[in-house]
Amino acid sequence: MRTRGALLREVGGPLEVVDLELDPPGPGELLVGVGATGLCHSDLSVLDGSRVRPLPMVLGHETAGEVLEVGEGGGFAPGDHVVLSFVPACGACRRCAAGRPALCEPGAAANREGALLSGARRLRLPDGTRPHHHLGVSGFAEHVVVSARSATKVPADLPFEVAALFGCAVLTGAGAVLHSARVGPGDVVAVFGLGGVGLAALLAARAAGAARIVAVDLVAGKRELALRLGATDAVAAGPDVVEVVRELTGGGAEKVVDTTGAPAALAQAYAATAPGGTTVTVGLPHPDRELVLPALSLVAEERTLRGSYLGSCVPGRDIPRFIALHRAGLLPVEGLLTGRLALEEVGAGFDRLAGGEAVRQVVVP
Ligand SMILES: NC(=O)c1ccc[n+]([C@@H]2O[C@H](COP(=O)([O-])OP(=O)(O)OC[C@H]3O[C@@H](n4cnc5c(N)ncnc54)[C@H](O)[C@@H]3O)[C@@H](O)[C@H]2O)c1
Ligand SMILES: [Zn+2]
Ligand SMILES: [Zn+2]
Repeated sequence: MRTRGALLREVGGPLEVVDLELDPPGPGELLVGVGATGLCHSDLSVLDGSRVRPLPMVLGHETAGEVLEVGEGGGFAPGDHVVLSFVPACGACRRCAAGRPALCEPGAAANREGALLSGARRLRLPDGTRPHHHLGVSGFAEHVVVSARSATKVPADLPFEVAALFGCAVLTGAGAVLHSARVGPGDVVAVFGLGGVGLAALLAARAAGAARIVAVDLVAGKRELALRLGATDAVAAGPDVVEVVRELTGGGAEKVVDTTGAPAALAQAYAATAPGGTTVTVGLPHPDRELVLPALSLVAEERTLRGSYLGSCVPGRDIPRFIALHRAGLLPVEGLLTGRLALEEVGAGFDRLAGGEAVRQVVVP
C-alpha cells in the first residue's frame, strides 16, 4: 500500500516527508495505522549523528495506533489499539528467557541493522531502495508494518497522543525509577535532565511515595514544569549543582536518575548521590564518550551505578501497569505533552527539542 513517512537520508537532515510503498505484514507482523508518535531525544541523536544507525531511515519509535491487518500468527485483531515499544523481544533467546527482554539479542541485532525482527524491511521508495526501520517502529508515518513483538494492546479509550508516551518516555523513565533505582516510600530522589524521560521519572518517583524529589536541568522552563508536576525542589544545572543538591538533601540523594545523555552531568549525578545510594542512568551519549569517576568511592561508599535500557521493563507487563497507574491518577503523563504536530512539522519539532524549548511533542499524522 501507499503511505507517507519522514525520511532521514543523511546525518544532519533534513527530515523529508516522502511517499512510501509499504509491503503487507509478513508472518508475525502487523499493519498499524499510526495515531500518534512522540519526538524522543533518541530520534534526535540519529538525526545529529550521536546515535549511529544505517541510513536512509524513517525515524520515530514512540508510537500508538490501531491494528489494521494481521500477518499469519500475528496474534492481534484488526481494531486493537496498540502501543509500540522500541525493542522487539523475540521471547526465546537467553536474555528473554532470563526475563530481560530489553536485552533481547535478535531484537538488538534487528535494531542495529534497521530491520524488523524477521530481518525484513517492509518500506520501499519510488526508486526501489528500501529505507531502514528505526527501532522496529519508524512511527513518523501514516502507517507502519511492525513485528507483533513490538506491540502491546492498550485500552481503546486512551487517546493515541497519551498512549504513545507509554512506548518510550514512560516505559523508560518510570521503569528507571521503579525497576532500576527501586524508589520506595520516603526515599530522597534527584532527577538530572527534565525532558520527557526525566519528567516521567519524576512522576513515577512521586507515585512511589518519594519524600523529596530534587529536579535538575539547564532550562528554567523545564524546572518550572517539574515543580508543577510534583518536584519538591528545582536546581539549575551548573558547576555548583552537586554542592546544592547535597545541601538540600542533607548529604546527597539516596536514588538519583540521570537522563541528560551528557557524561559530565552523569558524573555530577553520581557525586550528588549519598553514600550507599544508587545512581541510575538512561542517557545514550555518542559511543566514543567516556565517563570518569573517583574509583574509590564506588567501594568505600558502597555505591551502585546502573544503566537502564527500556526501564528494564517487560512491555507486555509494564505498559498495562503504568496505564493503570495513569487511570488511577497517579501518573498524569499528559503533563509531558507540549505540542501536537503534523508530519510535515517534525523537523521543526526536533529543532525545538534540540533548543530546549519542548518536552514531548507528538506527531499526529
Ligand atoms: N535508556 C533508554 O531506554 C532510553 C530511552 C529513551 C531515551 N533515552 C535517552 O535518554 C535521554 C533523555 O531523553 P529525552 O527524550 O528525555 O531527552 P530531552 O532532550 O527531552 O531531555 C534531556 C534533558 O536533559 C537536560 N540536560 C542536558 N544537559 C544537561 C546537564 N548538563 N545538566 C542537567 N540537565 C541537562 C536538557 O536540558 C533536557 O531537558 C537521551 O539521551 C535519550 O537518547 C534512553
Ligand atoms: Zn525514545
Ligand atoms: Zn530475545
